[in-house]
Amino acid sequence: MSLQLLLLLTLTVRTALAGGYYEYITWECLSTSADLTDVEFIMTYHFNKDPYIRFNSTVGEFVGYTAHGVYNAESWNKGPTVQQMRGERERYCKPNLEIHFSSLLEKAVRPRVKLMAEKEPSGGHTAMLVCSAYDFYPPAIDVYWQRDGKRETTATISTDELAEGDWYYQVHSHLEYTPKSGEKISCVVEHASFSEPVVYDWDPSLPESDRNKIAIGASGLVLGIILSAAGFIYYKKKSSGRILVPS
Ligand SMILES: *[C@@H]1O[C@H](CO)[C@@H](O)[C@H](O)[C@H]1NC(C)=O
Repeated sequence: MSLQLLLLLTLTVRTALAGGYYEYITWECLSTSADLTDVEFIMTYHFNKDPYIRFNSTVGEFVGYTAHGVYNAESWNKGPTVQQMRGERERYCKPNLEIHFSSLLEKAVRPRVKLMAEKEPSGGHTAMLVCSAYDFYPPAIDVYWQRDGKRETTATISTDELAEGDWYYQVHSHLEYTPKSGEKISCVVEHASFSEPVVYDWDPSLPESDRNKIAIGASGLVLGIILSAAGFIYYKKKSSGRILVPS
């Protein structure tokens, strides 16, 4: 879904460009961790698609990329503008990132993950394994396959994150699978609600529904044996009792 949104935005920008000229400024706050120790503030001026001036908090001053950009960067670096920009990391970035962390990341809901095999196409030996994640939030998620611990890139297909209509999302990833003995297949899920990737191993033994059928059949058999034995004993006792009673 995030990719679709991105495409849509790109399309909007293109449409805007087709009809004229486009000047815009972006403010970005980048951080690799939620404890906000390495926040970087980036402010960029663009014309059409080209950035021409950028302030990067790690660099600490404006840098120009065109003759006009260099000219303005030099003059802004002398005045109060650069002083103000140096404060934006604390003033703008940190409080906003904190709000996003507490309103989004900390409200993340863990996916319910199910691994199963889809019916084998008649006669073939290739099956489809499906790894499904349900009821998670936020929608950003990474679901992928591992074969003996190595990431599988071919023979996999994943759906987009599908909205369930109640703020939760689901996603399904498929792997073409030919059973091989000794091979370990796993589905790995990465999500904001997990502190690290979670690995779900595929159990190649019988699926649950088949196991249930076997369990029901076996219980029926045992019950049948017990009842027949009881009936047999009862019959034996009765018939031998009848012989003992003198007429
Ligand atoms: C900001 O500047 C630092 C130091 O030059 C650099 O490592 C970093 O990649 C820059 N950030 C961006 C988003 O350009």
